[in-house]
Amino acid sequence: MAFFGLFGRKSAPTIPLSELGLTCDMHSHLIPALDDGSDSTETSISLINSLKNLGYKKLIITPHVMTGFYNNDEGKIVNGFNELKKEVENQHIDIELGVGAEYYIDYDFMQDLSKKPMLTLGGSKMLLFECSFVNQHKNFDETVFEMQINGYKPVLAHPERYLYWHDDIEHMKLLHDRGIFFQINILSLAKVYSSDVNKAAKMLIENDLVDFIGTDLHHAKHLNIIENTKISEHTFEKLKNATLLNNTL
Ligand SMILES: [Fe+2]
Repeated sequence: MAFFGLFGRKSAPTIPLSELGLTCDMHSHLIPALDDGSDSTETSISLINSLKNLGYKKLIITPHVMTGFYNNDEGKIVNGFNELKKEVENQHIDIELGVGAEYYIDYDFMQDLSKKPMLTLGGSKMLLFECSFVNQHKNFDETVFEMQINGYKPVLAHPERYLYWHDDIEHMKLLHDRGIFFQINILSLAKVYSSDVNKAAKMLIENDLVDFIGTDLHHAKHLNIIENTKISEHTFEKLKNATLLNNTL
């Protein structure tokens, strides 16, 4: 069946996504100067305050780890996180913070999986990862298996953004059945990337394949979009009845 072959009822997006009542965000780039997200403590504090005002009570921050682009290791990430956490406490901002990482599937990630503890989502077994948007990694299945035999629960970041799966909902179901958790981006529901990505996100919702919804917040422009994201009544009902795991972390 084609990925976009089945659509539910269409209605205009009128319901603020914040009404879903998600209190934990588990995907963002808010540790200063570690990746393409926040570039200063001041910016991070401002974004954290805004997420708190949106109703989030817990944020698990997940810097990119990608050899050659974002050469972050666990020590560097935890140090940056601890400094940010201290500043949040100094400013008496009432929000719980946790740390994780968004690992890109590359050679080093595959090697590291069996050699050292990885940064999971807030100390759970959930391991957030991403891959190329345009070419499926030849060792994708093997890497997922390696995560699982090392005791992790793989969480695929923004599955709706991988172009090579847009026409293959059956393959997405297969991946989900194999134990990969799916996290879609609010920004995809707001049509930030493309209408195809937006359709893919809605198709995942339609097929009950969504486990987490994340902000993937990088900067203030994203925040403004996230604050104003609305979804249709139909999508809202589907998500309301889905078993979203955000608030379990
Ligand atoms: Fe991300």
